Amino acid sequence: MEFSISCIGVIGAGQMGLGIAQVAAMSGYSVILMDREASQLTRATESIKQSLGKLVTKERIAPELRDASLERLTTTTDLGDFSDCDLAIEAIVENLKIKVDLFTTLDGILPKNAILATNTSSISITRLAAATTRPDRVIGMHFMNPVPIMKLVELIDGLATSEETTRAIEEVAEKMGKTTVSASDSPGFLVNRILMPMINEAVFALHEGVGSVEDIDNAMKLGTNQPMGPLTLADFIGLDTCLSIMEVLHENIGDSKYRPSPLLRNYVAAGWLGRKSGRGFYTYD
Ligand SMILES: NC(=O)c1ccc[n+]([C@@H]2O[C@H](COP(=O)([O-])OP(=O)(O)OC[C@H]3O[C@@H](n4cnc5c(N)ncnc54)[C@H](O)[C@@H]3O)[C@@H](O)[C@H]2O)c1
Repeated sequence: MEFSISCIGVIGAGQMGLGIAQVAAMSGYSVILMDREASQLTRATESIKQSLGKLVTKERIAPELRDASLERLTTTTDLGDFSDCDLAIEAIVENLKIKVDLFTTLDGILPKNAILATNTSSISITRLAAATTRPDRVIGMHFMNPVPIMKLVELIDGLATSEETTRAIEEVAEKMGKTTVSASDSPGFLVNRILMPMINEAVFALHEGVGSVEDIDNAMKLGTNQPMGPLTLADFIGLDTCLSIMEVLHENIGDSKYRPSPLLRNYVAAGWLGRKSGRGFYTYD
C-alpha cells in the first residue's frame, strides 16, 4: 500500500512532542499537537514560537517560514481531532501501560490506513503494535533531544511492521532533514542501550562518592570529548525518563548490570526530574 502523508498528529506536548511538532510543521506538514493537559499545550506553543523566533533572528530561516509553520500547527486536548491524520507520532510519558491504552484508543480514531509511530526510548514496538488492529502500520520513530537540532532518527520495525510503512516513515524523516539508522526491536534499541547504562553508572559513581557532580561531568566531557557530561545530559533528558528506560532494560534483558541506581530512584521519588522540574543533579531557573 502506498502512503500519502500530509497531516501529522503528535500526542504529548512535552519537550519531545513540541520539538517533533515544530520540525514537522517546518517541513510542510499540517500538524495537530495533542496533550491531555491544556497547560502543556500553552507552554509548548510558546516554546515553539520562541524557537522559531530565534531561528529567524539568527537568519537560519526566513520570517515567512516561521509564519507558515505556525499557521500549519494547531493544538487540541481531544484525540478525536485525529480522525483525518495520515500519521500519528506518540511522544507521551515512557510508561508501557499508558502507551498501550493510548495505542488502543488511537487505533479506533485514526483512518484505517494511517501509520502509528512511537517516539518511545525503550519500549517494545511489537508490544505497542499488538494493542492495535494495524500492527503492520506501527513503527518506532525515535527522535533525539532537542528535536530541531539533533540530526538522528532511529527507526525500529516491530515484528509485523510492513516494508511500505518503513519506507513511508524513512521519507517523512528525510523530509524533516533527519538521518536515519535502523535498530531491531530490542530493549533500548541502539542509542539508549549504549547511552543509558553510562548515565546510570555515573549516578552510581556519584552515590558511591567516587566524584562530585561537577567532577563526574568534567571527567567525561574533557576526558572523552562528549559535548556534555552524563549528569547534565540526564537532567536534560528527564530523570523519570532515564529511570523508565533502565527499568525496561533491566526487566527485559534480565542482566543485573542494568539495575537502576538507587540514587536515581530517589531523585525521581523526590520529584527532582531535571530541567523540566527545575531541579535534578543541578538546579535551574
Ligand atoms: N527526553 C528525551 O530526551 C527523550 C528523547 C527521545 C525520546 N524520548 C521519549 O519521548 C517520550 C516523551 O518524553 P518527553 O521527555 O517529551 O516527556 P515529558 O514528560 O516532557 O512530556 C510528556 C507529555 O505527555 C503528556 N501525556 C502523558 N500521558 C498522556 C496521555 N495519555 N495523552 C496525552 N498526553 C499525555 C504529558 O502531559 C506531557 O506533556 C517518552 O516516551 C520518552 O522516552 C525522550
